[in-house]
Amino acid sequence: MSDPLDSLIADSLIAAARDAMAQAYAPYSHFSVGAAILGESGRIHAGANVENAAYPQGQCAEASAIGAMILSGDRSIRAIAVMGGQTGDGRLCTPCGGCRQRLREFAKPDTPIHVCGPEGLRQTFRLDELLPHSFGPDNLDF
Ligand code: THU
Repeated sequence: MSDPLDSLIADSLIAAARDAMAQAYAPYSHFSVGAAILGESGRIHAGANVENAAYPQGQCAEASAIGAMILSGDRSIRAIAVMGGQTGDGRLCTPCGGCRQRLREFAKPDTPIHVCGPEGLRQTFRLDELLPHSFGPDNLDF
């Protein structure tokens, strides 16, 4: 990421993901996740994971952020930051398989996915690195 504007955008998304992570409802896994999406309007839409006593009903942070994006009127994802884990643990909190598909609906193959820990950016992926040969709206002629 050499463009200084991309770097500023990533910094804003990471800060929003950190704030969202602090609001996570994760009493069962104790694994808080925050996500922040840059929509086509330039607005940032954030979300956190929301767990449930009926475990499979829990919702990932990315799904929450997509819901916030749709509610605000945006329909495409320019970039996203996802934050999870402990400071310095070095593990990559990459979006789960289901969330890769959720992101695919609104993102492009080269959309950046910034994977972060509480201390900041760990690694940036393109969507098509995380979900190659994907199935999307274009497969249905939409
Ligand atoms: N989680 C997310 O919110 N996003 C991901 O991409 C990975 C996992 C949440 C789901 C669950 O509440 C907790 O992390 C542990 O799996």
